[in-house]
Amino acid sequence: MASQEDVFKKLIAHCKEYGFVFPSSEIYDGLAAVYDYGQNGVELKNNIKKYWWDSMTLLHENVVGIDAAIFMHPTVWKASGHVDAFNDPLIDNKDSKKRYRADVLIEDLMAKYEEKINKECEKAAKRFGEKFDREMFCQTNPRVLEQKAKLDGLHARYVKAMEANDLAELKQIIVDYEIVCPISGTKNWTDVRQFNLMFSTEMGSTADGAMKVYLRPETAQGIFVNYLNVQKTGRMKIPFGIAQIGKAFRNEIVARQFIFRMREFEQMEMQFFVRPGEEMKWFEHWKQFRLRWHKALGLGDEKYRFHDHEKLAHYANAATDIEFEMPFGFKEVEGIHSRTDFDLSSHEKYSGKNIKYFDPELNESYTPYVIETSIGVDRTFLSIIAAAYTEEQLEGGDSRVVLKLPPVLAPYKVCVMPLVKKDGLPEKAREIMDELKFDYRCAYDEKDSIGKRYRRQDAIGTPFCVTIDHDTLEDNCVTIRHRDTMEQERVPIASLSATIGEAVNMKNLFKKIVNG
Ligand code: GAP
Repeated sequence: MASQEDVFKKLIAHCKEYGFVFPSSEIYDGLAAVYDYGQNGVELKNNIKKYWWDSMTLLHENVVGIDAAIFMHPTVWKASGHVDAFNDPLIDNKDSKKRYRADVLIEDLMAKYEEKINKECEKAAKRFGEKFDREMFCQTNPRVLEQKAKLDGLHARYVKAMEANDLAELKQIIVDYEIVCPISGTKNWTDVRQFNLMFSTEMGSTADGAMKVYLRPETAQGIFVNYLNVQKTGRMKIPFGIAQIGKAFRNEIVARQFIFRMREFEQMEMQFFVRPGEEMKWFEHWKQFRLRWHKALGLGDEKYRFHDHEKLAHYANAATDIEFEMPFGFKEVEGIHSRTDFDLSSHEKYSGKNIKYFDPELNESYTPYVIETSIGVDRTFLSIIAAAYTEEQLEGGDSRVVLKLPPVLAPYKVCVMPLVKKDGLPEKAREIMDELKFDYRCAYDEKDSIGKRYRRQDAIGTPFCVTIDHDTLEDNCVTIRHRDTMEQERVPIASLSATIGEAVNMKNLFKKIVNG
């Protein structure tokens, strides 16, 4: 069986071969951690964004959207804490000259200990069969206990060092645990230093004294500085939310795992403004709503889990991640944060403007508290395409690669195919397509055998193929072929739109979210 690493490599190659994701500026050998979306990728990405946007703005009458500029006044980033605190601890290996995040090196070692424990458990589970009691085994097996002691010791030191921002201790952990550079294999490390992740550039000509501006590292601040504009012009009453989709930029030290950690990426963020003291109720509410949004896609409920933060960001009083089981383990796709009144109070202080909300029901003014839901478009894309990528062995020794994408997100909903390129079949196929194209994105393919054409559509995740044959001209029926089951059925042309519509209607997902 292929390892997860091999499957991930194949997935990356597939994304390129079928026009989903290309390395940026590839003819110049690419740009690290920057990617372009191709003709199919952009459709999948747009569908993900639509699913998110509509789930916010259609399902909540008190959530509205905005589209703020990427450039913002530089003081925004002072007020938000990003100039002073948006840092990662970096460390260089003097032999390989490679740069690493000190926290990632330590977390990788912890993951190795966990992996060893899991392997021991798997081996024992095979040996003992149904009688296997994992909890008991972990409490008594000497090899597991040894790994667990190492893991717990390391974890305790790591959390303490991170909480105290103690860079010397992070370095000491790397030395004490003999962590080596994966490239040079040596322990020849520099000290750990803080590295600010924001990109900066200059606005205006240098002759005028150009102003240093930042490429936003999160879209959220565009919402905070506009919250009162929206509240007043939209006559919004607390609680209410503002949603936004847009690019964000971070000069990540370690950019890896394809589109998981990029230097330019896209976020879908929603800030929900609430009365002080009610934030935990809304935090819980949005946690559950967002998990249902993910699960409604049907990729498998077991692939998601919450992970509560141990080290809270400078603005939060509670935070959790929704993690998805990627080919390289459970990883964060979305963060849900209770940001208190940190951002609004800070903008009030730095701008000198009163941005308090007057609550007519309480007859008092206050600075609202904020619950944020923040999800990466690219990570969502990766989670969906990784779960969808399937290699299947078929009867007769044949095989296929099929993207079992949720039909509602697939780049094409249907491919229309005349059996042969003559006898009036292409004309009939075009006639059918000309009706369907108003509602669904349709592909047309008349080249090669039907089998090859099916494989091409499987590879990009098209849920339906419709074949027009000689009988169609007589009986106005076509063969519809279902992507996942490969089943084929003969149906009247008149029923096609309804069959496709039922499978690709976002309304069905929204109902699942709302009804649980
Ligand atoms: N406004 C809060 C915020 O930005 P975050 O946890 O730093 O919180 C939110 O980021 C989400 O943005 C993450 O869960 C992830 O999906 C996405 N994200 C963050 N950094 C990313 C990167 N370098 N590449 C791709 N996606 C990223």
